[in-house]
Amino acid sequence: MRNAVRSGRLVPGARLPATRDLARDLGLSRGVVVEAYEQLVAEGLLESRTGAGTRVAAGAGRHASAEQIPDEPHCWPHYGHRPTSPDLGAFPRQAWLAAVRHVLATLPNDALDYGDPGGVPALRRELAAYLGRVRAADAPAELVMIVTGVAQGLSLVVQALVRDRGRRVVLAVEDPTSARQIPLLRRAGADTVPVPVDREGIVVGALPGDADAVLVTPAHQYPTGVVLSPARRAALVEWAARTGALVLEDDYDAEFRFDCDPVGCLQGLAPDRVVLAGSVSKSLVPGLRLGWIAAPPRVARAVRTARGELDLGSPVIDQYALAHLIAAGAYDRHLRRMRREYRRRRDALVGALAEHLPWITVRGISAGLHLYAETDDGGDPSGLAEAARAAGLSAEAVTPAHGPPGLVIGFARLPAHRVTEAVRALAGNVGRDVRG
Ligand SMILES: Cc1ncc(COP(=O)(O)O)c(C=O)c1O
Repeated sequence: MRNAVRSGRLVPGARLPATRDLARDLGLSRGVVVEAYEQLVAEGLLESRTGAGTRVAAGAGRHASAEQIPDEPHCWPHYGHRPTSPDLGAFPRQAWLAAVRHVLATLPNDALDYGDPGGVPALRRELAAYLGRVRAADAPAELVMIVTGVAQGLSLVVQALVRDRGRRVVLAVEDPTSARQIPLLRRAGADTVPVPVDREGIVVGALPGDADAVLVTPAHQYPTGVVLSPARRAALVEWAARTGALVLEDDYDAEFRFDCDPVGCLQGLAPDRVVLAGSVSKSLVPGLRLGWIAAPPRVARAVRTARGELDLGSPVIDQYALAHLIAAGAYDRHLRRMRREYRRRRDALVGALAEHLPWITVRGISAGLHLYAETDDGGDPSGLAEAARAAGLSAEAVTPAHGPPGLVIGFARLPAHRVTEAVRALAGNVGRDVRG
């Protein structure tokens, strides 16, 4: 459908079949079709109005580069349908629009010039206050640097370390970890060393003695969903102080903790040894490409310099808009609403899996937008992942170097009322194709 819109075969305004009809024609569950439509709406190719059905969006269609640039799934294999994506349809468009309108109405012309490559002061102030309040971080605005996301923040910190050491650096990473990050860390100059993760999080005793830094996801480990235990937090901070290594804290999924109070970040325990990296990729949408790091002074300075040399900084209007969203309380309100909604979706998925696939053990559900499923036979989960995707779930197989394989299943984009249908379909697929 995306190809058809892009190539002009489906023209703007063209009405698409009802999801129920198309699902029947294609022999798919309706959930798959609904999700595809939602994805294309989020991409701006389709428009959906209650009572008016779904149509090709005005302005979508043939453009000059359509012939030369292959579809994203081919050239960017990591794009789309990721189990860890937030609900793109829940982006607070009105609040963002109001924030941008406010910024454009009030910002003096001078503010539209190249900004500080470390970010506009208004956003850094808001974030420093927000991170202190919500994440118990300990970073003044001067040590908060705006980046395009955790990915860029980590790259720049690794580059700064490489420059400081005058050689490639040894970076310990969790095993399993986010496979998407490994290429960018290597490109930045890190040789990665996998360190096992157990039920308490990264095994601090297994960290290599020669590590320059360690990258961790303490709030909700990706992919296992473990929250780093208090004892391991203390041990990690002690290890960093003893060895002089830097801890890179990817504050992954920290906004969405469901069952108990938020756990503060590591950075607040050791601001001179820990770099905190976060972004709006889960709290709002990844496409904004807005994130931050809070770092010790030397690292923060190096990152700002590197950013100035790389691309002169992030778009200022978006930075001011996010600052306004936070200051006006709209960011907190959105997060409160999404926390309730995601919790409902998580509960529905956990309940349906327990009922229909009782041989799956579900882990890592106290926070985040995905759960980690382990099967009772510990076998290769790729068949199960495929069956889950065929049933309309977002799923990815994980095979760690240490420990049993598992399956990441996302629930952020699956409304609670569609969960049972999808899990029943998965149970049906598995009964036929995988088990036995
Ligand atoms: C564990 C983890 N952290 C961070 C990121 C990147 O986040 P951002 O959008 O903030 O660059 C990813 C993206 O794949 C990820 O898997």
